[in-house]
Amino acid sequence: MVKEEAQKRVQELHDLLHQYNYEYHVLDKPSVSDAEYDRLMQELKSLEEQFPEMLTSDSPSVRVGGQILDAFNKVEHRTPMLSLGNAFNETDLRDFDRRAKQAVGEDVSYVCELKIDGLAVSLRYEQGFFVQGATRGDGTIGEDITENLKTVRSIPLKMKQPHSLEVRGEVFMPKKSFESLNKAKAENGEELFANPRNAAAGSLRQLDPKIAAKRNLDIYVYSIADVGETGVSAHSQGLDLLDELGFKTNPERRKCANIDEVITYIEGWTEKRPNLSYDIDGIVIKIDSLEQQQALGFTAKSPRWAIAYKFPAEEVVTKLLDIELSVGRTGVITPTAILEPVRVAGTTVQRASLHNEDLIREKDLKIGDTVVVKKAGDIIPEVVNVMVELRTGDEVEFSMPTHCPECESELVRLEEEVALRCINPACPAQIREGIIHFVSRNAMNIDGLGEKVIVQLFKEKLVENVADLYKLERERLLQLERMGEKSVDNLLKAIEMSKGNSLEKLLFGLGIRHVGAKAAKTLAQNFETMGNLQKATFEELVAIHEIGDKMADSVVTYFDLPEVEELLKELVEYGVNMDYKGPKLVSTEDIDSVFAGKTIVLTGKLEQLNRNEAKAEIEALGGKVTGSISKSTDLLIAGEAAGSKLAKAQELNIEIWDEERLILELKK
Ligand code: IVH
Repeated sequence: MVKEEAQKRVQELHDLLHQYNYEYHVLDKPSVSDAEYDRLMQELKSLEEQFPEMLTSDSPSVRVGGQILDAFNKVEHRTPMLSLGNAFNETDLRDFDRRAKQAVGEDVSYVCELKIDGLAVSLRYEQGFFVQGATRGDGTIGEDITENLKTVRSIPLKMKQPHSLEVRGEVFMPKKSFESLNKAKAENGEELFANPRNAAAGSLRQLDPKIAAKRNLDIYVYSIADVGETGVSAHSQGLDLLDELGFKTNPERRKCANIDEVITYIEGWTEKRPNLSYDIDGIVIKIDSLEQQQALGFTAKSPRWAIAYKFPAEEVVTKLLDIELSVGRTGVITPTAILEPVRVAGTTVQRASLHNEDLIREKDLKIGDTVVVKKAGDIIPEVVNVMVELRTGDEVEFSMPTHCPECESELVRLEEEVALRCINPACPAQIREGIIHFVSRNAMNIDGLGEKVIVQLFKEKLVENVADLYKLERERLLQLERMGEKSVDNLLKAIEMSKGNSLEKLLFGLGIRHVGAKAAKTLAQNFETMGNLQKATFEELVAIHEIGDKMADSVVTYFDLPEVEELLKELVEYGVNMDYKGPKLVSTEDIDSVFAGKTIVLTGKLEQLNRNEAKAEIEALGGKVTGSISKSTDLLIAGEAAGSKLAKAQELNIEIWDEERLILELKK
């Protein structure tokens, strides 16, 4: 075949195969036989072999899996991937509804969706082509799993219109595929997956896309991350648009006019849940209007315009075999229940944290008791209560030790605390746990350094403080158990990468008492460098709105320690970044603009400006954009067809501008 002819045929085959794939995997309505599909695919593959330059990244042939990777690259999400707040009962749902209506000052309507129990992914399209797919990761940075996602046949490689946008959805493994996968694994004597969710996660984490391709993964997409220019003004419209673009959305979604309809929908699915061909762990309830969504905004972790109703956790009965003690990073001694292994919510449980001695007393737990166990939020195992009526008299009372199980120094109970603590700063358990915390996801995010490896490094005295991580040598690491060339190289790469982290990650990783991830960010934003923070006084710290006395005190005490100064010096020597790299804080006092310090509400349709951009510009000029009109509102920007908010603003005598005026002032 001559080249031009081949090129034409390749294009025809692309179109046909994309269409047949879409009919089969998205619409569930095939129009050709499997044999015909396979024949065309074979024809395409042989043309691609003959003319390798014709093999493009959107070719239907990539569905079978391309190149094996060494490791997944990290990707920063353009808009963070947040999680959802939870509701466990009707009261929580009605509270959510009340808060939402109060905040927007009008009625709200909802879209209810099934909460698919899989893995959140983000799919980026440019000019219609699928260019990058990523896991959620820590919400800000995920992993690039594009090649694996291309093997998910219900993900379009090319959308039906050439938009550039980012789509979010949940990848899952249908129950049937999970069962046959586990059956095959059992026959080969391989370890089984605990549930479809873990199987889907394990499949997407394969470096060889050919494996993912065989796992029969599926997706339901549930939102457009950036509606931007699409003209969509309601979530339900966004989902309809996704359908039009060729995505697979969940058909069970419903619009609900009010919270009573939401509750009816939930009751229906509580019944029908077992009949579904895939697992769901709840119902997601979203406010439909995007204008109202924007007005409500986000907390640090989740949107205020959506909530996840979680089905009640499954409860099972088992035996409490023993109570073990562990020493945490801060020296707190935590008792853990050792249980007779039992299946609950898809996995085998044999340990559950008992938190502290008071909880053991409260629940009246004795070793040998028959206990009820569940998984809180379907993840964390928890002892619910004791079945006292089943006691035989052989149960043994438990008492907390007086000395540290790891370093044997005497334990203390600090004032106003329920916890017992080991206060020996040289306690090896605390140091080891501190290192585990340092490398964890929200801290320095060093992949490949699991707990087992850290325990090994610690035992071999290769790592005795966090700075030692940066002087690990390849040859020495290769001598450790279960560490091959590839894992050592990946680990060293991850350690090297972590040197460039922004200051807040390091600050959180250091494990300063009372400084959680959010506080670390606040400190980093306000002080910008480690040097500034080291010099900060108690007064300077408490002057920051979010920093209280307790935290300020703890920060000052921490940086006063000579060993901390030494440690930071060492980290600097190894090249660890000590500066904040995120967006800068601007003090409203420094901004000379009409918006500075003002509380502003946007309503109605803006003709020329994109709403998000308008908001960002106002905020950059020191204004605060909120969702509802109140006495503290300084200014209302009213676009076309502004409704109740305009009326309320007039009633309260609040200054009102139209879009023209806003544009004029933004340009000044
Ligand atoms: S909306 C801002 N819709 O549940 C987050 N999430 O905690 C918006 N999920 O990470 C998420 N089905 O992995 C949404 N129909 C659905 C969902 C869904 C499953 C997962 C998703 C998310 C988690 C929320």
